[in-house]
Amino acid sequence: MHTEIARAYPALFTSDEDLGADTVRIQFEDRTLCVREGTTVAAALLLHGAGPFRTTPVKSSARAPYCMMGVCFECLVEVDGKASRQACLTMVRDGMVIKRQHGASALDLSDEGAHHGCC
Ligand code: FES
Repeated sequence: MHTEIARAYPALFTSDEDLGADTVRIQFEDRTLCVREGTTVAAALLLHGAGPFRTTPVKSSARAPYCMMGVCFECLVEVDGKASRQACLTMVRDGMVIKRQHGASALDLSDEGAHHGCC
C-alpha cells in the first residue's frame, strides 16, 4: 500500500533536494527555515514542527491550522509585521518574517482592502 502511494505521489516521500526544488529562507520566531518555493506558510511551518500558530483573544488557547483552505481562520500569523494573515493562503517568499499571533491584533488596512465601496 505504502509503495503504491509513493509511486503515485512521489513528492510526498521525496526530499526537496531529491526533487531539485528551489528553496527559500523564511524566519519564524527565532528560527530560520529553508522551505520549498511555492509552499504556503502553513505547510512550511507544519513541516518544521512549528507548534501553535496563534493564541485566542479571550482564553489564550493555542491554535493551529485546521482547514488549510481559508475557512477556519485558525492559522492567523503575523507576516512581515502585518497581523492576521491566513498562513494557509499565504505563499512563502524569500526573507519573509513570520511570528505567532498572540490574542487580538489591530486590523491594518493600510495596504490592502482599504477601499471596499464602489465610489
Ligand atoms: S487553516 Fe483554516 S483558514 Fe487557514
